[in-house]
Amino acid sequence: MLEETRDQPKALSQTLSGGIASVEELREHFRKRRPRLIVLVARGTSDNAAQFGRYLIEITTRIPVSLAAPSILTLYGCPVDLHDVVVIGISQSGESTDTNAVLEDARKQGATTIGITNNVASTMTGIVEFPLLIEAGTEISVAATKTYTSQLLALYLIAYALNGGIELEQLRKIPEWVSGVLELEEDIEALVERYFFMTRTVTVGRGLNYANALEFGLKLMETCYVVAERFSAADLMHGPIALVERAFPVFVFAPAGVTWPSMATVLDRLRELKAETLVITDPRNTGARDKAARVIEIPEAPGPGASPQDLYTPIPYIVPAQLFAAHLAALKGLNPDLPRTLHKITRTM
Ligand code: F6R
Repeated sequence: MLEETRDQPKALSQTLSGGIASVEELREHFRKRRPRLIVLVARGTSDNAAQFGRYLIEITTRIPVSLAAPSILTLYGCPVDLHDVVVIGISQSGESTDTNAVLEDARKQGATTIGITNNVASTMTGIVEFPLLIEAGTEISVAATKTYTSQLLALYLIAYALNGGIELEQLRKIPEWVSGVLELEEDIEALVERYFFMTRTVTVGRGLNYANALEFGLKLMETCYVVAERFSAADLMHGPIALVERAFPVFVFAPAGVTWPSMATVLDRLRELKAETLVITDPRNTGARDKAARVIEIPEAPGPGASPQDLYTPIPYIVPAQLFAAHLAALKGLNPDLPRTLHKITRTM
């Protein structure tokens, strides 16, 4: 897991150069046939990537995006009407059975089908009209890392193909930005020591970084066996915050931009409750450092012309969380590559 986490600049560069070349066909397709609705279908880490895709595509294109509930087809036997819809499957292996079942049904109904996968020879690639390959290289660890960030990158390319104003120049900076974040590894390794006895936690994000709260929680659950409840900042305030008491560990994703006022409100409340907050932020959010017990500050995006909002932050922001989970697992004597009772491919109905 650690090696694959460190491998991300390369995985992202490869995915970007391959993706920019292949996404033109999709761009042309959308020019002629702009979708009225998009449905995303995925499981696990890939489903967390789908959550990001939902925010990204809605924010940049204003096309409504929904996440499929595969059981409506696979268990209830009720295929929803998908004609004139774009259905995007996301799966690192391309072998998740219910994800593929939804894609197969969508294609049969005449929907435009896209498959984001790391496996060119997968079942998914054979089902969809437009395979969009990520080029992360083989991922051996059961805990996905480089395929997650590469999937996020592929979703930026889909938003680009939909004319969502995505700047390829900003995407080109991401591998270097991630390299900069990876330099924090030693600090993060030292930081995890104080979390050795953590058995439960809450992870919080908002908007584009809500997916990262979901993904960090999943990594803590599967690699460290920590019970991690995962919330948007708004949902946390609607009840679950009652479980937070003195010294309760809470992890918060806090970039600058439109989500910061909401995150700041949550951090103020968490401070009143004397929670043990760890905030992932960067130097552009000058307010975050003062509001948290502990901070992981990633570097700013390299080069000029950084986006004023949080649009391009989710990929670099998840990297410290991946390092955190991998090092905490190692400290606890657990093998994050092979969590108990899990396999690389999970087949569900
Ligand atoms: C977690 C993880 C799993 C997979 C899930 C779906 O780190 O890797 O949650 O994401 O089993 O698998 P794919 O992406 O192959 O469909």
